[in-house]
Amino acid sequence: MSKVIKGGMVCTADRTWKADVLIEGETIKQIGEDLKGDEYIDAEGAYVIPGGIDPHTHLEMPFMGTTAAETFETGTWAAACGGTTMVVDFCLPGADGSIKNAINEWHRKSAPQICSDVGYHMAITGWDENVFNEMKDAVDMGVNSFKHFMAYKGALMIEDDEMFASFKRCAELGALPMVHAENGDLVAELQQKYFDQGITGPEGHAYSRPPELEGEAANRAITIADTAGVPLYIVHVSCEQTHEAIRRARQKGMRVYGEPLIQFLTLDESEYFNKDWDHAARRVMSPPFRSKDHQDSLWAGLQAGSLQVVATDHAAFNTEQKRAGRDDFRIIPNGSNGLEERLGVLWTEGVETGRLTPNEFVAATSTNVAKILNIYPRKGAIVEGADADIVVWDPKITKTISPANHHSILDYNVFEGFEVTANARYTLSRGDVIWAWGQNSQPQPGRGKFIPRPAFPSANVALSKWKALTSPKMIKRDPLNIPAGI
Ligand code: URP
Ligand code: ZN
Ligand code: ZN
Ligand code: ZN
Repeated sequence: MSKVIKGGMVCTADRTWKADVLIEGETIKQIGEDLKGDEYIDAEGAYVIPGGIDPHTHLEMPFMGTTAAETFETGTWAAACGGTTMVVDFCLPGADGSIKNAINEWHRKSAPQICSDVGYHMAITGWDENVFNEMKDAVDMGVNSFKHFMAYKGALMIEDDEMFASFKRCAELGALPMVHAENGDLVAELQQKYFDQGITGPEGHAYSRPPELEGEAANRAITIADTAGVPLYIVHVSCEQTHEAIRRARQKGMRVYGEPLIQFLTLDESEYFNKDWDHAARRVMSPPFRSKDHQDSLWAGLQAGSLQVVATDHAAFNTEQKRAGRDDFRIIPNGSNGLEERLGVLWTEGVETGRLTPNEFVAATSTNVAKILNIYPRKGAIVEGADADIVVWDPKITKTISPANHHSILDYNVFEGFEVTANARYTLSRGDVIWAWGQNSQPQPGRGKFIPRPAFPSANVALSKWKALTSPKMIKRDPLNIPAGI
């Protein structure tokens, strides 16, 4: 059975043009004019874009004494309704510390439930010989990126020497290190300080995690990555300090990538001062929402290309779970939602306002993610042979975001009340229509696939000015006779 997406404007990261898209089975067969097929999908008046890829989710994640409420089933379904056809979720090691066991555990949870495709990143939360060895197993299992938490002291946090060891291992394996950049030691001290002063509510969360502590950690991680000779991906970039560190590194030739979240682009720190405790606590996440100035910096980064992708860090805890921290902001489970809302909100606040072109929107939500995570052009592209993960994106369907009409399991939505000016008319995952506006029929859980992501080619190394000293070309020279001026 072939399908033709008919009459739309194909919009990729490069260009926009009028064309039909012929799908055979799971893949794109042809892009052209007046194509014929067994079935037709109406794209008249709409854009035809590559399915969104969310590079950062935490579905069913055990965290801070509880487990994220969003399941692989509800999460991937909500994603599809909002035009996202693949999520890359973070595996955390269990009590045994094994990476291999953690990946298998993630497969066990996700495989029967997923409505669309998934990939994984692996978290490195400590360092020993077993971790060193199992990082290779992870890469062989299709997991080529490793997140390091510089925060959450006493739980997930990793020390600098461990991070350096892990980054060097990533360099050997052709894997991509990632960091949660916040100075966890100082956060812990500030948390105690504000708590001792009697600040027990969600505002204490914002006070204790200032942007300076994020920027410091970002700079440190960049230095460690450059010394290890490996690129770096900084997750949930919230502030100018981190953006500045990324800009500076990139200008020096380092491959450093930055991921702002849709929440950080559109919601600000005033949320933590809302008189309604539940309202504020639902928005507690790390790093926290920032001021408008920081939002402007993130938008500028997307425009300039110094920030490449927009994610959600979807870590969804219900109100009851958030209330565990009623008397102490330090134990409110950290995380907020956005999986279904990411594309619509970015379109409304980015494209409708003129900040981003539709092509830049596609790059930030899909194509750049696929390239950076090494699944391009199977994902993130509308080209012959690519997986038919495609969204018919209708710039005329409006919606007011509400927990009453969202598809997440959550009992609230941090974007509640937001008017979205574009929505997915159809979402296709490997050729299957998994969402049609107005029909609301969920696809078969388990139809999604795990997408292995291969190691990067060795050419993908960091290239700062001084790093050139250790490049193969320079090593051939007499190391004691280094030319002056370098
Ligand atoms: O607050 C957050 N971001 N929760 C999820 C875990 C993480 O740090 O990404
Ligand atoms: Zn994080
Ligand atoms: Zn409220
Ligand atoms: Zn996260």
